Order: sequence, then structure tokens, then C-alpha cells
Amino acid sequence: MTGPVRIRSGVPGLDEITGGGLPANSLVVISGDPGSGKTTMCLQYLFMGATQFNENGVFISLEETEEEIVRAASYYGWDLASLIKSGRLKTITVELYDFDKLKNTIEDAVASVNAKRLVIDPGVIFRLYFERELDARKRIMSLGRMLKRLGCTAWITNEIALDAPMSLFGLEEYVADGVVLMYHTKYQDRFVRSIGILKMRGTTFSEKLHPMILTEHGVHIFADKDLFEQAPPAAANAGKGRGG
Ligand SMILES: Nc1ncnc2c1ncn2[C@@H]1O[C@H](COP(=O)(O)OP(=O)(O)O)[C@@H](O)[C@H]1O
Ligand SMILES: [Mg+2]
Repeated sequence: MTGPVRIRSGVPGLDEITGGGLPANSLVVISGDPGSGKTTMCLQYLFMGATQFNENGVFISLEETEEEIVRAASYYGWDLASLIKSGRLKTITVELYDFDKLKNTIEDAVASVNAKRLVIDPGVIFRLYFERELDARKRIMSLGRMLKRLGCTAWITNEIALDAPMSLFGLEEYVADGVVLMYHTKYQDRFVRSIGILKMRGTTFSEKLHPMILTEHGVHIFADKDLFEQAPPAAANAGKGRGG
């Protein structure tokens, strides 16, 4: 049996916890708390794709200008400006125009740089297009299906409000191939960062929540560590005899 064609994300640890890499052409929703690292990981995905794996990318944002996106990436040492200049990356700032135009804009952008990677950050963009939830659901499903035809591995982020986790109009449940959850949560007297795979069609994946850090190099996932791995208390070991 042959496995799926997989991509290399360029995010340390992510390929390991997704059973060897995300299946190519999948549509993945990255859900997480504010500040959990969604935007960082998306920028990393596009930068590493273009610089290490010869896969061009498109970044679609809401409100954030190209200048702001370039600046955000520069904090991690990722030079997006030169990628844009050399036609390996395209950024698009979405305005509130009609939805069908958005679909065409995405298709054109992907074609213009022959993109293999696509990011929409944040996916809540779509909420602004529709007054009625049902319209939003129908249209975002149709967008999701369109994205899957583009030949890109697409990531859409979803900001989870702390008090009300919300699905992206059902995209996670129905159209998305994968759902990645990122947490930045309080544990005892500190905050901990973690990441886990909730769903990934076409591959096995780690069932664990893995610790991750955000450094000046971006997101780093510890694929071989458990979140609350602790050295056993000294007292517990002290009384144990040494087995022969
Ligand atoms: N150069 C850096 N080194 C380490 N952490 C950084 C750096 N730049 C930003 N951060 C951290 O990244 C976090 C923001 O992550 P971001 O990807 O924007 O999250 P999200 O998109 O999920 O809201 C902030 O908490 C910030 O402290
Ligand atoms: Mg963000």
C-alpha cells in the first residue's frame, strides 16, 4: 500500500506529528487562542516552502498590509520582501468586496506565482461577507472545495475566542481535510504552549498534545515529548530498591 504524497512544512516537529508530513493538496484549518502562534507558523510555512522546498506561496490577509506582513516575518529573520520581489510569494490584503471576486482573486494569485502553498489568515474574513450564518456556511464550503481544486496545500487560521470556541462555519467538520489546534493556556502558575492534531484525512497522526515554543526562529514543536512530562518526584524514587 502506498501512502499519500506528503509535503514538508518547514516547521520543526510538525511533519513528525502528522505521520510524516501533511498530505499534499489538503485543506487544513489551524485553530487557536490569540497569541498561540498561528500567524507565525503560517509565515514560517510560506517562507520555508519558498526557500527550502521550491514551493511558492500566497498569503491572504485581512486588514494587514503587505508592509505589515513583511515586518511581522522580519522579527523571525524571514525576508519576505525578496521572495515577493522574485515572484516566489504573493500577498493579498482582502477588502470588503464581493465574495466571488475574492475567489477569482485567490485563483489569479495562485496562478501568478504558480503557488503550491496558500494561507488565509485569519479565516474569520468570511464572517464579514455575510449577514446570515447559513449564507456564510454555504459559501465557505464552496470556497473550501475551490481551494482543494487549486493544487495547493492550504492553511486557514481560525481565532478561537477564549470564552466561546467557534467553528469556521462547519469548515472543520465537513470540507477541511485537517484540523490543527494550538493552545496558549494557563497551567498552575504559568502559561504553556501546545499543539495537537484533531483531524487529518489520509494519514495517521499523533494523538498527543505536544509542547511547542515560539522563539526568534519561529515555531518549534517537540514531537517526541508529552506536554506534562515531569521527572518523577525524588521521594517516589528514593524508597525503591534497585532491581537486579
Ligand atoms: N521574534 C520573536 N521571538 C519570540 N516570540 C515572538 C517573536 N515575535 C513574536 N513573538 C511572539 O509570538 C506571539 C504571537 O504569535 P502569533 O503568531 O501572532 O499568534 P496568533 O496569530 O495565534 O495570534 C506573541 O505572543 C509574541 O510574543
Ligand atoms: Mg494571528
